[in-house]
Amino acid sequence: MSKKFWSSLIAILLLSAVVLTACGGAAPESPAEEAAPAEEESMEMEDAQVEVFSWWTGGGEAAGLDAMIEVFGAEYTDVEFVNAAVAGGAGTNARAVLASRLQAGDPPDSWQGHAGQELIGTYVVGGQIEALNDLYDAEGWVDVMPETLIPLISHEGNIYSVPVNIHRANVMWYNPTVLSDNGVEVPATMDEWFAAMDTLQAAGVTPLALGEQWTQLHLLETVLLGSLGSDAYDGLWDGSTDWASAEVTAALDDFAKVLTYTNSDAASLSWQDASQLVVNGDAAFNVMGDWAAGYYIELELTAMEDYGWAPTPGSVGVFQFLSDSFTLAVGAPHPEGAEAWLKVAGSKAGQEAFNPVKGSICARTDCDPSLFGEYLQSAMEDWGSNTVSGSLTHGVVANDSWKSEIDTALGLFVAGQDVAGFQDALVAACASSGPCK
Ligand code: GAL
Repeated sequence: MSKKFWSSLIAILLLSAVVLTACGGAAPESPAEEAAPAEEESMEMEDAQVEVFSWWTGGGEAAGLDAMIEVFGAEYTDVEFVNAAVAGGAGTNARAVLASRLQAGDPPDSWQGHAGQELIGTYVVGGQIEALNDLYDAEGWVDVMPETLIPLISHEGNIYSVPVNIHRANVMWYNPTVLSDNGVEVPATMDEWFAAMDTLQAAGVTPLALGEQWTQLHLLETVLLGSLGSDAYDGLWDGSTDWASAEVTAALDDFAKVLTYTNSDAASLSWQDASQLVVNGDAAFNVMGDWAAGYYIELELTAMEDYGWAPTPGSVGVFQFLSDSFTLAVGAPHPEGAEAWLKVAGSKAGQEAFNPVKGSICARTDCDPSLFGEYLQSAMEDWGSNTVSGSLTHGVVANDSWKSEIDTALGLFVAGQDVAGFQDALVAACASSGPCK
């Protein structure tokens, strides 16, 4: 893993690496203090409920959530699970609904957030979620969660939220038959990718499937990574890479070129629609996080026959990650139910049920690899051996204001194709919301 990445993030996260044992006494009160064996709890919690908020409503995502709800239901028979999921990939709709509920003082008991700046820079700083140090102590989670992840869910000595998975953002999915029919090898570099897409385009095949705007931001972050390399990419988020530099101009030129290979109806397609174009043979490539693997599992497709995968061009050896992490709301209407949910989300049984279906690997380090399919086993190996960088679209490297400024600049760029104007807007975004002040 890249030491620079982790040290930068740790710095961004206000030096919040935690030695739990040293600060347990200073932690705010948490429901874990009343921790009791599950059976006793379920009796005590008669008529109890928990409302859990996410955006997992379909395409492999709901199946993963359902698998974890089943584990929850078996363990907490008397707690009603209220599924408050709001549809829309990457939480574009859900996060707006969540923001208005929080604003109105009507929080769900627990919601899905992303480890990193989204969690720390938005919910912790906003005083909207509880610290969970006591639950971590009681459940022994510090020993089973990756050391590298703890700083991304910590602030000033407290741990916030329970990571349920690790997803990979920089995956290029492809249709093996479309590639071989056109004599195209799986590209590993940006230049190889452009050459492959020229061949496919000349043959009348859509080279790259693309969907709505957040998937375009997702594509942008992977092109920045592939074009700049992981050190310079990581530097974008800690201020050590100059957004006005020639290397960023070159990366944005690459992005502009990549867009010329995409379908014209991108804006109206969901991420599942774009994934579908590849397996239907209507497009050769799609860049998407590995929740696409969950979708392909749900469609009962065969790995390396119906779909193949490789790191996005230029990012071989880099694992650009994100982690879904469940919170406990300040003012949760059902704190006991929320604690029960968090226990399941952090448990081996919960994570082993959820992840093989969701298309992610466990956040916990002790899950049984044999439960996972071929793609996810390869992801586990890469997570353990690759350099690690963080995702922009999915909350790791930038807080919500910075990300939203970048997203606005992207929208203008896609409409107008002005690379210089795009770069100026990105420089300005780093100055107003990032570390470039
Ligand atoms: C991400 C989330 C994933 C997946 C994806 C597409 O932000 O972390 O779990 O749901 O959005 O909706």
